[in-house]
Amino acid sequence: MSEYHGRWSNRFTYILAATGAAVGLGNIWKFPYIMGENGGGAFVLVYLVCIALIGVPVMMAEVMIGKYARLAPSRSVVKLARDTGRSSAWRVTGWGGVIAGFLILSFYVVIAGWAVAYTWYGFSGSFTGRDAAEIGQLFASLNASPYPLLGWSGFIVLGTSIVVGKGVQKGLEKAVNYMMPVLFLLLTIMVIYAANTGEFAEAVRFMFEPDFSKLSWNGVLIALGHSFFTLSLASGIMIMYGAYLPEGTSLVKTSVYIAMMDTLVALMAGLAIFPVVFANGLPAGAGPGLIFQSLPIAFGQMPLGSLFGGSFFLMVVVAAFTSSIALIESSVAWLVEHRGLQRWQAATLAGLGIWLMSLLTVFSLTGAEWTILSLWGDLRMSFFDLLDYVTANILLPLGGLIISVFSAWAVKEEISRETLATTDGLYRLWQVCLRYIAPVSISLVFLNLIGVLNL
Ligand code: PFF
Ligand code: NA
Repeated sequence: MSEYHGRWSNRFTYILAATGAAVGLGNIWKFPYIMGENGGGAFVLVYLVCIALIGVPVMMAEVMIGKYARLAPSRSVVKLARDTGRSSAWRVTGWGGVIAGFLILSFYVVIAGWAVAYTWYGFSGSFTGRDAAEIGQLFASLNASPYPLLGWSGFIVLGTSIVVGKGVQKGLEKAVNYMMPVLFLLLTIMVIYAANTGEFAEAVRFMFEPDFSKLSWNGVLIALGHSFFTLSLASGIMIMYGAYLPEGTSLVKTSVYIAMMDTLVALMAGLAIFPVVFANGLPAGAGPGLIFQSLPIAFGQMPLGSLFGGSFFLMVVVAAFTSSIALIESSVAWLVEHRGLQRWQAATLAGLGIWLMSLLTVFSLTGAEWTILSLWGDLRMSFFDLLDYVTANILLPLGGLIISVFSAWAVKEEISRETLATTDGLYRLWQVCLRYIAPVSISLVFLNLIGVLNL
């Protein structure tokens, strides 16, 4: 077990890298569409509560594990378990993370591929003057056959494998330096534009007036799962970043900060998209295509729309790319550490595997019949839906549950107290969240869904 000697050069680069992994398609593509499908306000409220009481404490726990052991994710868990007199079986969290990361990336690259296509459409003026129906047609034609999708997503897979294979992530993380402010600026412009031309008041009401009659228990699980997905939790990634945490950096403050940035981007994306959705009579529950079917209508009408449209989707691509790098890193690190491969071999193998796996999503989107599964009763899902559902709503919350119990019950208090290095009050709050709130609410939601409970 060799210790990681590298550290982020300072607090700032650490925050940038972790924010780069957090902010991605989850914020801009997924959050708006699942919010739309689950009735708006009540979903947003549950989501915010999950972020604050479960997501942030779990993030702190993961960074703590990495900071304590300074090793790769599953080895860090093993070291901490041993030092605290517990079984090394806790390392299952490490495996779960590798599997979840791999499965997530297999559909993530396809959606990122959509964004690559839309960057091209934007700059080349394809949105200009198109109405909602024509924009809808553009999206439909992108998904009419598998080959373009394979090409666009292949581009992301290749880029990700090359960067990770060469081990130059840190250089790339610097790019996040420039991307984040530009992303914020473009989102701000879109929100202002939407506020002036779209149904802004209706969108605000939709997002912030909770109507619990519109939220099902499945919706609660989706909000819970998304709070893990969006913060990149339970995938080993925050443990990995924690391993590089510079000495003297407050893990508590930086976690809160990262979660706040992530939440802000998600809410701004919603405020940019829904005014356009309502103004053009699109259904809020349009599904995964929501952002691609709504924002281009606005880009097509606004001054300098091609420039803004192209740049906006380019920022989405960059945000997706920094998250993809973090996602593939868990498989690559695992192959290097446990299978003794060279970095570039591991990156090639992981990239190939992800690309093959992405075929399932590509064919789901292009409507190949064999991709539709009948699960039970009337429940039918495509492979894409299944991958998304199983990772975000089952694997990640389950991983989060195990990490909560491990770090707040199994780990010795002296160790967690010293590694978290915060005030007594905050330490206790963290413990209450992870000892009681997280395990109880995750279990309740699960038990309720599989029909054991009937809340
Ligand atoms: N947090 C990313 C997003 O919101 O797009 C997705 C993600 C990245 C999930 C890394 C999990 C992960 F390990
Ligand atoms: Na996110």
